[in-house]
Amino acid sequence: MRFDQRVAMITGSGSGIGEGIAKTLSAAGVKVVINDLDDQKIERVVGEIKADGGTATGIRADVTKLDEVEAMYASIVREFGQIDILVNNAGIARDKSIRKMSEADWDAVIDVNLKGVFLNCKVASEYMRERNYGRIINISSRAWLGWPGQANYAASKGGVISLTRTLALELGKKGITVNCIAPGIIETALWHSLPEDAKARLLKAQPTGKIGSPKDIANAAAFFAADAAGYITGQTMFVCGGKSLFANLG
Ligand SMILES: NC(=O)c1ccc[n+]([C@@H]2O[C@H](COP(=O)([O-])OP(=O)(O)OC[C@H]3O[C@@H](n4cnc5c(N)ncnc54)[C@H](O)[C@@H]3O)[C@@H](O)[C@H]2O)c1
Repeated sequence: MRFDQRVAMITGSGSGIGEGIAKTLSAAGVKVVINDLDDQKIERVVGEIKADGGTATGIRADVTKLDEVEAMYASIVREFGQIDILVNNAGIARDKSIRKMSEADWDAVIDVNLKGVFLNCKVASEYMRERNYGRIINISSRAWLGWPGQANYAASKGGVISLTRTLALELGKKGITVNCIAPGIIETALWHSLPEDAKARLLKAQPTGKIGSPKDIANAAAFFAADAAGYITGQTMFVCGGKSLFANLG
C-alpha cells in the first residue's frame, strides 16, 4: 500500500507505538509529523525517519492544551499545505485501585487520553473538512473493557470509543472516517519494566501465547489510514492476540 502525497500527524510519536506508526506510514510514502512533549525523543525519531529517506518534521506540543494544538496544525498546514491523517496515540497511565486513586490521578489520565483526543479531532477536522478528506485513527486499549486498578485509564479509553463513534457520524459526509484501535499488551518500555512474574502471568493469559509489537498496531493504523478503507468508519479493531475474547483472564 502506498500513500504518496498524504500528510499525517501522530501524537505522542516520540516513542513506543506512535513511533512505530510514524515509521510504518513514512515507509509507505506519507509525510509524517512527530509530536511529543519531549524534544529529544522528537529529534531522534525525525532523524531516523529522514535517515531512511522519509519526510518528517517534529512539533513539541501538549495535546491537552488547545492553544498548543491549534498552533501545531497551523504550522503543519503552513509547511505541508494539508493534513490528511491524524493518529491520536499520546496516552498515559496512573494505575491504582479506586481507594488510592486521587483526583489528580483521575484528571491527568482523562486529560491526556480523552481530552487530548477531542482537541486534536476538533482542530484537525476543520482542516480536513476544507478538502473533504480525512482519516482519523484513535488509539484506545483493550482495557476499555475494564480492568482492576485502571478506573481512570479504562474510562478514558472507553470514552475514546464513544467519541470515535460520534465523530464518525458527524464527519462522515465530509469524507472523513474515524476509527479506533484497541491494542492489547504491546512490547514497549512499559512491558520491559514489569517484574518477570507479572510478565509470565500476562503471557499465560494470551490466547496466542505472545504479546504484540508496535508494528502490529502500525499495520492496523495503516489499514484504516488507506484511501481504500473509505467505507469503514466508527469501528474499533482489537489488536490484542485474542485477549478481548477472554476479558476476565488475568
Ligand atoms: N503499550 C501497551 O501495551 C498499550 C496497550 C494498549 C494501549 N496502549 C496505548 O497506546 C498509546 C501509546 O502507548 P505506548 O505504550 O507507546 O506509550 P509510550 O509512553 O511509549 O508513548 C506515549 C508517548 O506519548 C507522549 N505523551 C504523553 N503525554 C503527552 C501529551 N500531553 N502531549 C503529547 N505527547 C504526550 C509521551 O511523551 C510518550 O512519548 C497510548 O495511548 C496507550 O494508552 C498501549
